[in-house]
Amino acid sequence: MTRDEAASMAAGFDLKRLPDSFYDDPFTTYRALREHAPVKRMADGSVFLTRHADIVAVYKDVASFSSDKREEFFPKYGASPLFEHHTTSLVFNDPPAHTRVRRLIAGALTPKHIAAMEARLVELVDGLLDALAARPEGEKIDLIESFGGAIPVEVIGNLLGVPRDERAPLRAWSLAILGALEPTLTAEQHALGNAAVSDMLGYLEGLVARRRAAPGDSETDVLTRLIQGEAGGEKLEPRELLHNCIFLLNAGHETTTNLIGNGLRLLAEWPDERARLLAEPDLVRTAVEEFLRIESSNQLGNRITTCATEIGGTALAPRTQVTLGIGSANRDPAQFSDPDRLDIARMPNRHVAFGSGIHQCVGMGLARLEGRVAIGRFLARFPNYRLAAPAVPARRARFRGHARLVAVAAPIASPTPTTTQETRS
Ligand code: HEM
Repeated sequence: MTRDEAASMAAGFDLKRLPDSFYDDPFTTYRALREHAPVKRMADGSVFLTRHADIVAVYKDVASFSSDKREEFFPKYGASPLFEHHTTSLVFNDPPAHTRVRRLIAGALTPKHIAAMEARLVELVDGLLDALAARPEGEKIDLIESFGGAIPVEVIGNLLGVPRDERAPLRAWSLAILGALEPTLTAEQHALGNAAVSDMLGYLEGLVARRRAAPGDSETDVLTRLIQGEAGGEKLEPRELLHNCIFLLNAGHETTTNLIGNGLRLLAEWPDERARLLAEPDLVRTAVEEFLRIESSNQLGNRITTCATEIGGTALAPRTQVTLGIGSANRDPAQFSDPDRLDIARMPNRHVAFGSGIHQCVGMGLARLEGRVAIGRFLARFPNYRLAAPAVPARRARFRGHARLVAVAAPIASPTPTTTQETRS
């Protein structure tokens, strides 16, 4: 692309009018924006940021950049279940509401608690790999449906103690609710999102009632922790409790499926990097960070200015809506050398795939573990897998992943190694 073409692409960019090509490849647009309009003003008055340094600066400045979404979401959702949900969860709130919910969740996701989940996770992943290995040789397998999409639902279901036989609807609910965070919505997406929030509230009311009657282990069971609140401190209001459970079930879901799917697609497309990982399986730790960087599962974040401020030399009025281009920051050459190249040993790798600052992903330790166990063990079992059809993107601007990732995978004769390095820090 010539310089003039890039400048014209940046000039015409509007998050609410994305061309089809953007969903396949947002990175060409991001590059044009970084070079020609890094603080891009859009038609609705909001701005879109694409530079790593600017985005990190916003994350750090909690006083000037708020996460409260009431103002932004009311015109989008009206008085609806989606509005109530998205404005009640911790991620879209500022302290102090944010702080107390975060503390309760974080207490169940310490490194010690995450390490304790590994054995069960390995068992789950190996069970899925056994099922794939048992399929007829040469059969095409959708790695999202049969593998990447099947792992987080179990992990997050365990975290909240959702009985196994009640987990089936969780993925569809999650897709519908998070899908409603896209920059623009069709009437159908709107209706699906609202129905999913209502259904999920109904389901969780029953689950909470059962858990109140029979509490779980308050060390590890997040639902019990949220119900009981802080010792001697405040408890969550009933709606707050339900909406934060919904958020948690959703937050750890599609993002992690996409990490696994994106990692497997990248390794299929970069054979030298795949060979490197096969030769040095311990690189799985840095490899997962690189997958998160180069194809960030969550591409966009949002804030609103609380006062007159500036970013990257551009003045912003109070109440300016700001979109953070996480996927762009993670390919910014000012931060990463050769940013479009997959380097599974990249170090340092200061990506912002999990955000940064007070809202940084509370589940990142768990997501990393899932990524390492799933991708590492898949590769050990099916080192020669290949894509059998072009990957089908999920066609979302916010969450980057696949609707389908069809592959052919023949297992090697020797079983997956039983020792893992995954939780070593
Ligand atoms: C690859 C997987 C994941 C990615 C890319 C991801 C990404 C993110 C990002 C970017 C944020 C920050 C949002 C903001 O600043 O506005 C966030 C917040 C959050 N994530 Fe994740 N996430 C992942 C997995 C998980 C998992 C597995 C869980 C739960 C176990 C989880 C729970 C949360 C929660 C509760 C927050 C809100 C934190 C707060 O507001 O303080 N995420 N995530």
